[in-house]
Amino acid sequence: MPQLEVSDFAQAVIDRMAECKDARFHQVMSALVRHAHAFIREVDLTPDEWMAAIQFLTATGQKCDEKRQEFILLSDTLGISMLVVALDQARGARALADQPGEKPTEATVQGPFFWPGAPELELGADIGEGYPGEPTLYHGRVTDTFGKPIAGCEVDVWSGDADGLYDMQKGDSMSLRARFRTDAEGNYRFWSIKPTFYPVPGDGPVGTMLAKMGRHLNRPGHMHMMLAAPGHERLVTHIFVKDSPYLDSDAVFGVRNSLIVECPRHEPGRAPDGRHMNKPYYTAKYDFRLVPSAQ
Ligand code: BEZ
Ligand code: FE
Repeated sequence: MPQLEVSDFAQAVIDRMAECKDARFHQVMSALVRHAHAFIREVDLTPDEWMAAIQFLTATGQKCDEKRQEFILLSDTLGISMLVVALDQARGARALADQPGEKPTEATVQGPFFWPGAPELELGADIGEGYPGEPTLYHGRVTDTFGKPIAGCEVDVWSGDADGLYDMQKGDSMSLRARFRTDAEGNYRFWSIKPTFYPVPGDGPVGTMLAKMGRHLNRPGHMHMMLAAPGHERLVTHIFVKDSPYLDSDAVFGVRNSLIVECPRHEPGRAPDGRHMNKPYYTAKYDFRLVPSAQ
């Protein structure tokens, strides 16, 4: 019987998929096997190293529960989440290449702290009220790539607190997150705090991996935003604060230059939404452009 040698195993696995009926699955699994085997041959992986990898993946799974997603963190910190996001946007851009209109807003990682079902609040509500942090008005307009305002667009927002901790990391009740709907002209506005830089969770296997890689855990200050409107592609993105540390070394590689906004400080007085502020506040203005859905 012919025997498989080091260079033969990958092809032997691929050959066993001859009966696979799903062409895309076949393509993805063949490439996965080819690249995984090539990687193991390239580094000449030892049995101890492979066992360490299996223990690491086991620990990563065991760290997950309904609030903690260590696999997303692994994907994010290895740059894989952002690669998938960037490929998706490039695919969308190719589809739009011969159409008129402006470039859509860039997407970035969703991260592990999205919590569906945040309270739906009136435009202008303050979700930072009562929390430490610098009050900030977030406002702007949502249009399509042709500049047409999108009324009724759901704008789901979430951020960490002044210490960089998300509600999910602290307990069972939602805070510093809400859903808003754009008005007839596509405008949105809400108050929250100015987000600070913060570390991604470092108390699990991914944190151990990052320390061993000699990497820091920090993300620059950002407000998460997810925009959804009928007839348009859903957008998952952030607004990054311009003067934040770590913009050039985000632990999850999520920064896009087009998402960095000036966050000017204002003395007490009347804010652009008419609210009277008796202490200094900040504003962050950002306009979003959504892609009309493929028909
Ligand atoms: C976040 O921004 O919430 C986040 C993103 C990726 C990993 C960890 C946290
Ligand atoms: Fe975040």
